[in-house]
Amino acid sequence: MTLIFFACTSDTEDIPKVAPSGLVYSETNVTFVKGSTDKVISVTSVEKGSSDIQSYAFLTSITGILINSANGTITIGSAVAVGNYTLSIDVENSHLTTTFKDLITIVVEAAPPSKPSNLIYNTARLLLVEGTVGSITRTSVNNGGSTITEYASIGSLPNGFVVNSATGDISITIAAVVGVHKLSITVTNSAGSTNFNNVVTVVIGESNTFNGQIKALFVSKCSPCHTSDATGQSWDFTVYANAKSHINQIITKLENGSMPKNAAALPQSEIDQIKLWLIGGLLEN
Ligand code: HEC
Repeated sequence: MTLIFFACTSDTEDIPKVAPSGLVYSETNVTFVKGSTDKVISVTSVEKGSSDIQSYAFLTSITGILINSANGTITIGSAVAVGNYTLSIDVENSHLTTTFKDLITIVVEAAPPSKPSNLIYNTARLLLVEGTVGSITRTSVNNGGSTITEYASIGSLPNGFVVNSATGDISITIAAVVGVHKLSITVTNSAGSTNFNNVVTVVIGESNTFNGQIKALFVSKCSPCHTSDATGQSWDFTVYANAKSHINQIITKLENGSMPKNAAALPQSEIDQIKLWLIGGLLEN
């Protein structure tokens, strides 16, 4: 076994230890708008002192503001919170550390508000039987960073319709008349207004009965396949009880286009008629 000893005679012992000094950055008063691209400020000069600089570091760390320990470059990114910051920086050479107190001030401002966006209602299409009331609720909206001051209809509302200017919710009263009503809503905040055209459709229909409208529709569109019980499966939809008990399957098949089999889908108005029959309570007469 060989033991090797190193005798450490210091050659540098007599050289005076000098701390880093003279740290200067490209900017010292920075305004940063949250959401803008990252802001970079870099060291323009520094006196290293008696040995090379080992590291740059913040005295206190701040979320969203980073310092490159090798070259001192500071990056302000989107994670920083709105507020005022004063940065103190430690610069270390292999002998000593200097703290540059309150060297850089940073003001982080909130992004300016944008116009409202993404108005969403709990339904985009509501069917109602004439003479009944209904409501459509606003599920969400992006206020663009500024409180919404008003929801309003673009153009005059149809009879019997009300838009709540504070919430955007829509009420339909018994005064609404039969028809297909498309509503366009404008939403306003301090940045301006955004129009949401045809954001909601309300179909007001007459109350249908099986013998009044629905049976004839099945006869004309579902014949000859569903006008007899040849299969023994209660699929003769011209029989009230069969149509009533299959109503959910009927609507599903009409909306997904799988019925009428091998034929063009029913027009929306006829599908609506059948749905209105359901909403109205599946009356026979
Ligand atoms: C050309 C014949 C044909 C026409 C027209 C047709 N169907 Fe069908 N339908 C069928 C057949 C066959 C089935 C059995 C399942 C299959 O083959 O898809 C069926 C099944 C169904 C079912 C499923 C029943 C269940 O309980 O599973 C429903 C609901 C239905 N049809 C509704 C309709 C309606 C409503 C119409 C008219 C608007 C219509 N069909 C028109 C042939 C037809």
